[in-house]
Amino acid sequence: MKIINSIQDYRNQYGASIMDPEAFWSDVAEDFVWRRKWDKVLEWDFRKPEVKWFVGGKLNITENCIDRHLPARANQTAILWESNNPNEASIKITYQSLSENVGRVGNMLKAHGVKKGDRVCIYMPMVPEVAYAILGCARIGAVHSVVFAGFSSGSLVDRINDSGCKLVLTADGAFRGDKKIDLKAIVDEALLKCPTVKTCIVFQRTKSSLTLKPSRDFWWHDELGKVDAVCPAEVMDAEDMLFILYTSGSTGKPKGMVHTCGGYMVYTDYTFKTVFQYNEGQVFWCTADVGWITGHSYILYGPLSAGATTLMFEGIPSWPDMGRFWHAIEKHKVNIFYTAPTAIRSLEKAPISFVEKYDLSSLKILGTVGEPINEEAWHWYDHNIGKNKCPIVDTWWQTETGGMMISPIAHVTKLKPAHATLPLPGVQPAVMDENGKEMEGNGIEGRLTLKFPWPAMARTIYGDHQRFKDTYFSTFPGKYFTGDGCKRDEDGNYRITGRVDDIIIVSGHNMGTAEIESAIDEHSAVCESAVVGFPHDIKGQGVYAFVVTYDPVHEESHLRNEIREVVSKIIGPIAKPDKIQFVSGLPKTRSGKIMRRILRKVAEGDTSNLGDTTTLLDPSVVEEIKRGALG
Ligand code: WTA
Repeated sequence: MKIINSIQDYRNQYGASIMDPEAFWSDVAEDFVWRRKWDKVLEWDFRKPEVKWFVGGKLNITENCIDRHLPARANQTAILWESNNPNEASIKITYQSLSENVGRVGNMLKAHGVKKGDRVCIYMPMVPEVAYAILGCARIGAVHSVVFAGFSSGSLVDRINDSGCKLVLTADGAFRGDKKIDLKAIVDEALLKCPTVKTCIVFQRTKSSLTLKPSRDFWWHDELGKVDAVCPAEVMDAEDMLFILYTSGSTGKPKGMVHTCGGYMVYTDYTFKTVFQYNEGQVFWCTADVGWITGHSYILYGPLSAGATTLMFEGIPSWPDMGRFWHAIEKHKVNIFYTAPTAIRSLEKAPISFVEKYDLSSLKILGTVGEPINEEAWHWYDHNIGKNKCPIVDTWWQTETGGMMISPIAHVTKLKPAHATLPLPGVQPAVMDENGKEMEGNGIEGRLTLKFPWPAMARTIYGDHQRFKDTYFSTFPGKYFTGDGCKRDEDGNYRITGRVDDIIIVSGHNMGTAEIESAIDEHSAVCESAVVGFPHDIKGQGVYAFVVTYDPVHEESHLRNEIREVVSKIIGPIAKPDKIQFVSGLPKTRSGKIMRRILRKVAEGDTSNLGDTTTLLDPSVVEEIKRGALG
């Protein structure tokens, strides 16, 4: 693999990757351990849709994430684990120890009848064992389906049944800040409705009292004690399923995105090394939960394939205080820090002394993912965390893409706040207008599609290929539709403006709600905001803003006017919010995404049926928002 180390280099390699994608990816793929080399790099047809990478290749991803590192770095830390409780010792798991633990889990699963292709549901806290569980499945060719351990039992039932899981790996409980969540009780409730699950293996974390259901439930430590640490890797076809991961759709039912072995491995490794310019010996910290794609690709597979040291944090950024992230960076001398804009905005709210208390000088590179980052938060992050010396890589990608797609390359790409900047090698974006025509040139705005496959793209929706086609390949036939809007500036930099379903049209003007939010957030009193459209007699749609302030608001009308002025200044009078409701918090999912569906209903004045709110982090904010709704 060629490391990119200048912008000219990027341009050359990008050009090469477009001219001859097969030669480009074949060259990258040479750096991995294959049991059998591929016959053909790529076969594809977006109209079907069908995509296959490294056709005929055989491999096991865990041999690449573990075994191949053993000769040189058996004793290097693979996973550095930081407990929820700052007083509990952190744990260093070497590549050797990772190998043994993963082998044991693989053998434990086999002992319980799990075979290649069987689906295993993982519903666990952020403990090292969740990594062993995921990699243990991959070791024996079982398909893991990780469900974020904050989902309710109903969500768990849907996911288990959709993919027909045979076995569940869970824990007695999870620690999250000062809370203890009884995971096993949630699993017990779920399993009443999951006929395919025959076995449940329970890791002991919180030592909560519970009873095991005879012949179904087993203790992890008992079962692990019965098996050997050596587990031969199952030889997988490059296109065999590696995992299923559910993501929410615009309609109710979650979509089980299917990722396969070969392409996913090559792409997550390549993007990890390229975007973060990872150097041997560095400590990398991605703060996501392993229950999301970010955790899959950049806590585990990407960094481990690269032989990195990856930090895994069990807790939350605000406990025991708002300095927890910064404390952990100092403690573990973290070099690369990758987090979500929502976390940045909430930490920005705390007194700056929580940051200043810690030595952050180990940091070299910062990253963000998951949503557009507003300029104000970008600058705060740059200045206070990066001390104006760390590049910020604003990485745009999706559960469906498997890995980062549009992102600066650290120290190479010229940064532009709130811009994901340029496509990575192999990524071919096309911006479409409303009539389904590709827009040429720069200085444009439209819908973001991808017109050529990349190795880590999802291959289907589990059990529903038609839905895969309808959702991603029908809006713009022959292209993958991301569902996002974007701008491409004069220099070819992309700015993701938010989901297209979050675009509102005010007096005939297209406006990204994210763009208005970013402007509102520029007001010094504003912590964060969410904007939705509502029906407006004259303009078609009006702008309704839900605004969270740092301090309680005394003179609402005064602040409303100021905010309108800021927006007017930054975007133009057309974007001025018609209604501004001050709220103490926004309805967010546990992954930090704002549930706009709820806000839209409130803005429309229809609060009779807000739909399912069980996946919200704090359902009580919804009541407050309903009470304060502006007519
Ligand atoms: C949004 C997370 C702007 C986008 C990896 C995308 C972003 C959705 C960015 C996917 C970014 C992600 N800038 N928007 N850097 N990264 N998004 O599946 O709308 O949880 O379609 O994957 O998040 O979210 P998902």
